[in-house]
Amino acid sequence: MTSMKTDLISVKKSFSLSAKALAIQLLKNEEVVAIPTETVYGLAACFNSLVAQKKIYEAKGRPGDNPLIVHIPDASMAKEFIDEIPASFHLLAKAFWPGPITIILKRKKSLSKDLCAGLDTIALRVPKNKVAMDIMRGLKEPLVAPSANLSGKPSPTTAGDVYEDLNGKIPLILDGGPSTIGIESTVVNLSSDHPEILRPGAVTKEEIEAVLGCSVPYAVKNISPGVKYRHYAPNARLILCKEAGDHPNSRILSYEGNSRGINFNASTLYASLREADRDKIDLIYLLTDDRLSENVALMNRIEKAVQN
Ligand code: TXA
Ligand code: MG
Repeated sequence: MTSMKTDLISVKKSFSLSAKALAIQLLKNEEVVAIPTETVYGLAACFNSLVAQKKIYEAKGRPGDNPLIVHIPDASMAKEFIDEIPASFHLLAKAFWPGPITIILKRKKSLSKDLCAGLDTIALRVPKNKVAMDIMRGLKEPLVAPSANLSGKPSPTTAGDVYEDLNGKIPLILDGGPSTIGIESTVVNLSSDHPEILRPGAVTKEEIEAVLGCSVPYAVKNISPGVKYRHYAPNARLILCKEAGDHPNSRILSYEGNSRGINFNASTLYASLREADRDKIDLIYLLTDDRLSENVALMNRIEKAVQN
C-alpha cells in the first residue's frame, strides 16, 4: 500500500467548519476519514461506496469477513435497511439512542450483497457525538465505521491514538477530543427469535432487560465475526493477577480507587495499554479487583487482551 500524507485537524479550532467540510468532501470522493464518537474513534466511509469500504479493510488490516457497523443520524432511517422492524428495536432505540448500543437486524434482500461482509443481517447505531452527527447530516448518507485502530490493537480513544496506528494510510483524522466512554458499543442481536448480547459495552445487560422486559443472555454461540479475532492487545504481555511480580521493565495497572500502580477505568483502559507500549514496557500486571470483576464490558476486553 502506498503511503499518503495524513492530516490531523482539531474540530475545536476556529476553522472547525472547514475541518468538517473537508471530511465531507473526502468522504464524497470515496475516501476514508477517522472521526470521533462517544465510544471510540471510528474509521468512516460512505455507506454507498464499496470502494471506500475496501480502503477501510486495507488501512486497518481487517479480515474481509468482519462486517462494519452502519452509523445513522436517526432511528427512523432504519426502515431503509430493514423490511420488518421488530417492536424490540423501537424500545431499544428510544431508550438508548443516540448512544453506545449497536443493534443487529435482518436486512433487506434488495441491498447489495457485498455490504455487511455478505451476511443477511446489518448492524445499526446512532452515535452520540456532534462531529459524527454533523458529518452524517452534511453527507445525507449513513457512515460505515469500525474502530479506527490497526486490527488487533486496542481501540483508539484519542485522535493521537489513530495517528499512531494509521499515519500514512488515511488522508484525514478529525480531532474531537478524547472519547467519553472509551470502550466500544454494546452489540445486541435482534435478528433471531430471542434477543441476545454479542458484545458487552457501556449499556448493560440489566438496562437492556429492563427496557425489553425479558431476559437477554450473553450469546453462547456468537454470530459476530469480530469476536473470534485477536483484539484489544498491547505489544506488552498482559497478566491478570492478584499480586504483581518483580519482572524488570514491568508496570502495574489497577482499577480506579486501588492504591497500587497506575489506575484506569472504562474510559482510560485502552489509553493505559497504549501508554505502556509507548513506554516500551514488556509486561503489564493488571490487578484483579472485586469491583473490576463486576464490570462485564471491561473484563471482556481485558480477558481478550490477556489471551494474546
Ligand atoms: O462503539 C463502536 O461500536 C465503534 C464505533 C466506531 O461506533 N465501532 C466498533 O466497530 O467497535 P468494530 O468494527 O470494531 O466492531 C463491530 C463489531 C464486530 O465484532 C463485528 O463482527 C460486529 O460488530 N458486527 C458488525 N456487523 C454485524 C452483523 N451483521 N452481525 C453480527 N455482528 C456484526
Ligand atoms: Mg474494533
